Amino acid sequence: MNKIGIITVSDKGSRGERVDESGPTIRAMVKPLGEVTDYMIVPDDLDLLKEAMIDMADIKKLNLILTTGGTGFSSRDNTPEATLAVVYKQTPGLTEAMRAESLKKTNRAMLSRAVAGIRNNTLIINLPGSVKAVRECLAVLMPALPHGLETLAGRGGECGSAE
Ligand code: MTE
Repeated sequence: MNKIGIITVSDKGSRGERVDESGPTIRAMVKPLGEVTDYMIVPDDLDLLKEAMIDMADIKKLNLILTTGGTGFSSRDNTPEATLAVVYKQTPGLTEAMRAESLKKTNRAMLSRAVAGIRNNTLIINLPGSVKAVRECLAVLMPALPHGLETLAGRGGECGSAE
């Protein structure tokens, strides 16, 4: 059973000035993948974000961390930089697929700088912030994630076996 963490990245959300709908959307969508054991709302602060990811990966030993928000062009959008600072390997296929499919729906998909990567046995994936974007992006990833997470945990079957 995969242990999953959700980090909603939002200055307003962290101050209680905005209700987080994206985190709960992720929670509902990832049910087939495992159990959400950790959920945090963190401000768009590079160091706090890094700390939250490292805690979930190294202390809580989660298999998957999904972030939502902070991937755009505003000066406070720091999620990709925090992620790149803590992962040891990048997994660009995930975000390439996300953007390729998303571009069929909105040309604004190219405005997300989302990245993904691996820290030890933890996969970290950035999703954009809106509920709509979360739904669209996570739907693209879901079919491939079970095999990816199994492989990462060292319990993967053969890559050539049935999908
Ligand atoms: N991707 C999908 N699939 N659907 C969307 O509606 N919105 C885009 C983009 N990615 C969107 C999307 C928009 S408008 C922005 S500004 C960027 O994600 C960055 O969003 P963020 O800053 O909330 O992370």
